[in-house]
Amino acid sequence: MSNAIQSFLTENKVLNTNYNVSGESISSYESYKKLCLEVENNFDEFWSGYATDLLSWSKIFTKVLDDSNKPHYKWFVDGSMNVTVNCLDIHLTNGNANKIAIIFESDDGEVLKITYKDLLKRVCKFANGLKNLGYKIGDKCIIYMPMSIEVIVAMHACARLGIIHSVVFGGFSSKSLHERILDIGASLIITSDYQKRGGKKIPLKAAVDAAIISGNCESIKNVIVYKRAGDDINWLSSRDLWMDDLEKNQLDYCEPVFVNSEHPLFVLYTSGSTGKPKGIQHSSAGYLLWAKMTMRWTFDIRGDDVFWCTADVGWITGHTYIAYGPLSMGLTQVIFEGIPTYPNSARFWKMIERHKVSIFYTAPTAIRSLIKSSDNDRSVHPDNFDLSSLRILGSVGEPISPDTWRWYYKNVGNENCPIADTWWQTETGGHMITPLPCLNYLKPGSCSLPLPGICAAVVDESGEDVPNSTGGFLVIKKPWPGMIRNIWGNTDRFITSYFPEELHGYYLAGDGAQRDNDGYFWIMGRIDDVLNVSGHRLGTMEIESALVSHSKVSEAAVIGRSDDTTGEAVVAFIVMKGERPYNDEAINIAKELRNWIACEIGPIAKPKDIIFGDSLPKTRSGKIMRRLLRAIANGENINQDTSTIENMSIFDNFSITF
Ligand code: WTA
Repeated sequence: MSNAIQSFLTENKVLNTNYNVSGESISSYESYKKLCLEVENNFDEFWSGYATDLLSWSKIFTKVLDDSNKPHYKWFVDGSMNVTVNCLDIHLTNGNANKIAIIFESDDGEVLKITYKDLLKRVCKFANGLKNLGYKIGDKCIIYMPMSIEVIVAMHACARLGIIHSVVFGGFSSKSLHERILDIGASLIITSDYQKRGGKKIPLKAAVDAAIISGNCESIKNVIVYKRAGDDINWLSSRDLWMDDLEKNQLDYCEPVFVNSEHPLFVLYTSGSTGKPKGIQHSSAGYLLWAKMTMRWTFDIRGDDVFWCTADVGWITGHTYIAYGPLSMGLTQVIFEGIPTYPNSARFWKMIERHKVSIFYTAPTAIRSLIKSSDNDRSVHPDNFDLSSLRILGSVGEPISPDTWRWYYKNVGNENCPIADTWWQTETGGHMITPLPCLNYLKPGSCSLPLPGICAAVVDESGEDVPNSTGGFLVIKKPWPGMIRNIWGNTDRFITSYFPEELHGYYLAGDGAQRDNDGYFWIMGRIDDVLNVSGHRLGTMEIESALVSHSKVSEAAVIGRSDDTTGEAVVAFIVMKGERPYNDEAINIAKELRNWIACEIGPIAKPKDIIFGDSLPKTRSGKIMRRLLRAIANGENINQDTSTIENMSIFDNFSITF
């Protein structure tokens, strides 16, 4: 929190006069204000105008919003449409048929391109294959694949048939995969033999096999495998099928299944404040509309753009700004299989030059690591590359510090490209608070102003607005089309987590924020037990329950500390069942626990610091003193009252950092 306040006080405005709106964004600040007023005064007309202009419907809706059963909002009532028609078929008749939809660059630099016409054919063939196997609207499919053209084909083939997909990030372990298979009740899994990242081959099908073997997966009828490496893998011929065998001999057109506006397009799991991830359920029409509107507004899209979002499809950013948004706009986009540091840290800059990328959307954690690399090795500095094709830069997933912002603005954007510091969440479906390219000035470190239609505010615990420059809870006071519809299988949790009674039914984002006198928003970090490590959400409770499930661990408390590269780092305080370990023994157990977490959740959740103690500091009523642990982990002075702590021995700890 203190970093955000600091930046708020000391950072200046950056004039945005070098940029002229030339695409589909809002042309000026005055037009932005006008739109904000329009939606305030004519809510229904505003949204219905965009929904009819921007989406293709098989049956037009009869009502914009049904709010009779809050917070179960229903958008575009009675409407029917199909998402893939809106992302693919429409481009066959609007001049984009032979336009490149995807430029795929593999980990080792090989490039494959596919046009809109051919992408639709592949989606149709694969969808026909799924149909022949008996899959249909309402079925659930887990997708566990690398970044590829094939993962886009898989997602859209599901959407073509109304199959609800749930993409699981390839970095999650088989245990996490298993949990998600069970929670969603999947009958189909689409995966790959391997994924290639940073020169390494990582098995995916083997993780799927392990997940299925762990039990209760009788619902899985098929595992369809995209052949990425072609090596021998375990095969169950009654269940497993190669993706290309399934596509072979299928017709290259498949009738779309038109679904109700509210039909779930996908469920994406994310961490919250309990031990179990929650399945965020999104709609079809409202979600896609918001994806398309935010693409236009935030990125000032032009027909000749080459768009590159570096996220993985396993996260919401990869859904909205890779799989759906760019295709809905008929854009050419880059999809990258690898990582920013392979074969060296110039990879991003090389790719921008090679593919003439005009809109580049990445995460602060990547920029921070590339700043470090180019400080050490000038040859990987962006200066060495022609980045003049860039028009707009974007940032997502975590706060971007003013220093990082300035480096990105100067060295990547050559002070010509506005930075869209996009604040949003898995639950919001698309951007919510972000600087429009037309803004007169940007403020490094601030995500600036809410988009038209987004009624963002900062309130206190009783839901009342707080004055400017005062911290509080970030809320959204009115519904918007891209909003979360439910938590899969847990309506109670949906209501209590996001629409708590005391906040007058506002959507509670889970972030602290403040607004300055210009109305610009400053995000101050999570208010719950969720960490943000390299832009990824991790629940401390999830990591704690994984740690205590290890046979040698008695108690665990997980908190975050700030970290130069990853933003936040996971710190685990551990009490063992037997004697507290020291020296080599402690190092070995710490390694064992880190591997355990990699297997239980995934490598991203591995603790960076492990601190062993005889007990955890608790109040007399038995509550773990997390604030105190946070202070210890961040090396801060302990200035809080520790008189209620039962046992202070945690302080002479033995700490291991990896
Ligand atoms: C954080 C990612 C500051 C925030 C799209 C939010 C940000 C969580 C920003 C959502 C930003 C995202 N500035 N913080 N521009 N963008 N966050 O669901 O804490 O993976 O609640 O969605 O990331 O993470 P999620």
